Amino acid sequence: MIKILVIHGPNLNLLGKREPAIYGRVTLDGINRMLKSMAKKRGVGLVIKQSNLEGRIVDFIQQAKKNKFQGILINPAAYTHTSVALRDSIASCGLLTVEVHLSNIYSREEFRHKSLVSPVAKGTVLGFGARSYTLGLEALIDLIEAQ
Ligand code: DQA
Repeated sequence: MIKILVIHGPNLNLLGKREPAIYGRVTLDGINRMLKSMAKKRGVGLVIKQSNLEGRIVDFIQQAKKNKFQGILINPAAYTHTSVALRDSIASCGLLTVEVHLSNIYSREEFRHKSLVSPVAKGTVLGFGARSYTLGLEALIDLIEAQ
């Protein structure tokens, strides 16, 4: 069975209450339910993690291959724009990684226009709210199945 690791970065635990005009009213639990329902339909196993700590996220990524995951779906949140450590861990993990964002980072403040993660991700889905996650998961499952 295909196993995918979903990682939500910092502050995403506050979704629903956090800047709803930008991120919408769907909670993280709501997004996780959407992902689990798609995974169930596709016969894929999902493990979902959230952390506000950069090093913890690096640990999740480093251990992913050993823990028999075949792909990673990640919203690196603010670390998208700052974390060389996160970028390096994705580059060396040896797993297909899809980056997602709820908002369109290119239509927002200039400091969000640069993603350190995009160059090492297989692809990026952004700007579709919670749907970015389901589109990203669908693409990731298709890619893994095609391997
Ligand atoms: C985000 C965009 C980031 O710039 C921001 O720091 C987040 C969420 C998004 O999903 O739109 O926390 O990754």
